[in-house]
Amino acid sequence: MMTLNVYPKLDLAIKSSQGMWLETESGQKILDFYSGHGVISIGHSHPVWVARLESQLKHFAYYSNLVPLKEQEELCRALGELSGCPDYNLFFSNSGAEAIENALKTASILNGRRQVVAMRGSFHGRTSLAAQITDASKLCSPINSGLDVMWVPLNNIEAARVAISGQTAAVIIEGIQGVGGIWEGDTAFWQELSSLCQASGALLIADEIQSGMGRSGDFFAFQKHGAKVKPDIICTAKGLGNGFPIAATWIHERYVMPMGSLGSTFGGGPLACRAALAVCEVIAAEKLMTNAAVQGQYLIQGLSEIPGLKNIRGRGLMLAFDIEGNCEALRLKLLHDYGLITGNASTKNTVRLLPPLSVTREDCDYFFVQLKSALKELHIS
Ligand SMILES: Cc1ncc(COP(=O)(O)O)c(C=O)c1O
Repeated sequence: MMTLNVYPKLDLAIKSSQGMWLETESGQKILDFYSGHGVISIGHSHPVWVARLESQLKHFAYYSNLVPLKEQEELCRALGELSGCPDYNLFFSNSGAEAIENALKTASILNGRRQVVAMRGSFHGRTSLAAQITDASKLCSPINSGLDVMWVPLNNIEAARVAISGQTAAVIIEGIQGVGGIWEGDTAFWQELSSLCQASGALLIADEIQSGMGRSGDFFAFQKHGAKVKPDIICTAKGLGNGFPIAATWIHERYVMPMGSLGSTFGGGPLACRAALAVCEVIAAEKLMTNAAVQGQYLIQGLSEIPGLKNIRGRGLMLAFDIEGNCEALRLKLLHDYGLITGNASTKNTVRLLPPLSVTREDCDYFFVQLKSALKELHIS
């Protein structure tokens, strides 16, 4: 028996991981500038995360939501404090796509509508509703079709005004588009979406699954757009657990959901909550949001001085650049010959960078040196 062959895979056998580094079975050391799709927030196997999980595992590993779990209450408090958004109630689940399904279902329960306004270039996951609001038709099968979706190009205020109406259940937008190639709505667009939602009774959903947990330099990427932008629902996952599966759908406290409308057997289990609590503890103690902003600026500056790179963009530690032509040869050379793992995006000439939030200036300098050599060898610079 083998795993189902549905992912293109890198030829990389990882033996161990620590901080910013992966080590392969053959002893090669690889600097992680991708965090496994942006999941590693505080660094691989951070000692605080390991210690908190070990201790939780020893004294209480699992019980379901049938009982109140103090670990969930602690996590709600910690996230409320760290995010500056304490006025939400959290529903915990296991993956980003689940957080999205729950967000859409919540919006539809609350306003009784079924139409969704989504952004061109979006990625929200592979489950049924999430796939239908992702701008890539290959993710859908005949059975996940039929959702009434209106598409709006990012930053096209006129198109948003036409699309959002009294029929709209929810408007969904990523804090910063990740898989789409690191593009984001500007402040005027976010503020307009917010006021259109308020006027029409649609709920604004911020998908912060990749861009949240401090990755942009703010806790949530949408926070850059000021107090006028206040999503009704926010989705988080990825960096929340630093590799332990956990997701949360944040629902503004003004909304009350019917008993039994959302549920999950594993969601918000004690181990998952303990992992996320360790993430919050380390982000605060090591000032990782500030670090994300500082190192992000340093990376943008350094990248802009390298010949051959175009359209350098993003903020915090959610960055991308383009090269002339397909970037696969460059990414594979970086991985196998220069010990750097990077990400791609839906556009074939885009390299996506999502290092752990604990990346240092020395790591960035090492990255620049390796990247320049690889570009030179491939005659790209
Ligand atoms: C913005 C965004 N939303 C949702 C998802 C889906 O998350 P998951 O793969 O955990 O289901 C992803 C995954 O890449 C994502 O980047």
